[in-house]
Amino acid sequence: MALNKLPYRGTRDFFPKDKRVRDYLFAVMTKTAESFGYESYDGPLLEEVELYKAKSGEELINEQIYSFTDRGERFVAIRPEMTPTLARMVAQVHRESSKPLRWFSIPNLMRYEKPQRGRVREHWQLNCDVFGSPGRLGEVEILQVAVELFQAYGASSSHFEILLNDRAIADAVFKTIMKATGEQTHRLYKIVDKAKKVSEEALQKMVGEVGLDSNAQDIFYSYLQLSTFDDVKIFLEKNNQAEISSQFDSFIEFTKKANITEFLKYDPTIVRGLDYYTGIVFEIYDKHPDNRRALCGGGAYANLLQIFNEDPLPGVGFGLGDVTLRDFLEVHNLLPNFDIPVNDILLTFQEEDGLEATIKLAQFLRKNNLKVVTGLEALKIKKVFPTAEKKGVKFVTLMGSDELAKNQIQLKNLASKEQHTLDLNDLESILKLIKA
Ligand code: HAM
Repeated sequence: MALNKLPYRGTRDFFPKDKRVRDYLFAVMTKTAESFGYESYDGPLLEEVELYKAKSGEELINEQIYSFTDRGERFVAIRPEMTPTLARMVAQVHRESSKPLRWFSIPNLMRYEKPQRGRVREHWQLNCDVFGSPGRLGEVEILQVAVELFQAYGASSSHFEILLNDRAIADAVFKTIMKATGEQTHRLYKIVDKAKKVSEEALQKMVGEVGLDSNAQDIFYSYLQLSTFDDVKIFLEKNNQAEISSQFDSFIEFTKKANITEFLKYDPTIVRGLDYYTGIVFEIYDKHPDNRRALCGGGAYANLLQIFNEDPLPGVGFGLGDVTLRDFLEVHNLLPNFDIPVNDILLTFQEEDGLEATIKLAQFLRKNNLKVVTGLEALKIKKVFPTAEKKGVKFVTLMGSDELAKNQIQLKNLASKEQHTLDLNDLESILKLIKA
């Protein structure tokens, strides 16, 4: 039986056109992260499953992880997210490193999910994280990085919004105001995380099963109604949580100074499925009605290093997936066209004897940082221009019997249609015309 030509379910082959799109997405990510002084890092594809058990949360471990026992009886997993690897790496070096530590990476990750629009089994994810920044400035900076990244792709606040919450607020509501037990709080987090995806009846059924008294239930539903930063402030103050309210308020004041408040919206249902978050949590959402989904998720975590017996070092970061980003750019017509490759020049010869001179010219131009495509055999004139179009070049050279006899080429600028006869003994003049 013949083998299947298609890639494993939920993974993608990147043919040159798709790879060009991916290269563009990554180039903008790298440029933006580096413009904030973030340093690139990477880790291994495999980690011990224990690492994820310690921090990531039930859904990732029970339903999504790709795991196996290796030949040495170690239980390992393909990385489903980068944050545990990052924490492990930071735990090795943070004592000797000056703070804050600003790192970024674009790893491929695998999660066993049902493939659908915006969800695959292997995706690439930009991770930007800051460790050890003073006060709430790291949180503001990380949001700024995300905003400037979207702006670098040409997006504005009409295209996306950052839905934001603070786990300190959710904790205060559940534990202090509603007086929920630890177990009930855990269940409330899971319910809140699903609140927007289920019907009103299903929500009421789940809340009913938590075993809260009616007063606590009323508080819970009024918490779910909060939709502005002012609403939260009033709600917290009314429920004697002035301290939490003023901490959150000062964070919002910083976001105003960083000019990012217009992108932010309070959303009580954002608590994030991963267990390690302790402070602000956020998701960047596409505003387009055909693509209402999370493009990016992140938040602050205070205790990620504890599992390595290290002192707490607070951090904050986000992950942004390549699949959701591409859908976002496409649905808003923000993705440039990558149908054809981009090269500088196509060198052709119409007589077999032109090969040697062509190779020599190509070597010279490549040494001068040009992208040069050569015909490997004589090319008929009528095929030259269609080939040039497919190769995405700006210039073409031709060498027929006349030029060959005189050691010359014809150089044609495809945009201006200008054509020059040039001497192959004067390579510098050829280069000058191309670079002009
Ligand atoms: P996450 O919310 O699990 O967070 O993933 C972040 C983003 O990765 C999502 O918003 C989505 O764009 C993309 N993504 C996740 N799973 C898939 C999938 N199966 N297919 C396509 N795209 C996907 C984290 O992973 C955190 N570790 C992020 C983080 C970094 N928090 C702090 N630092």
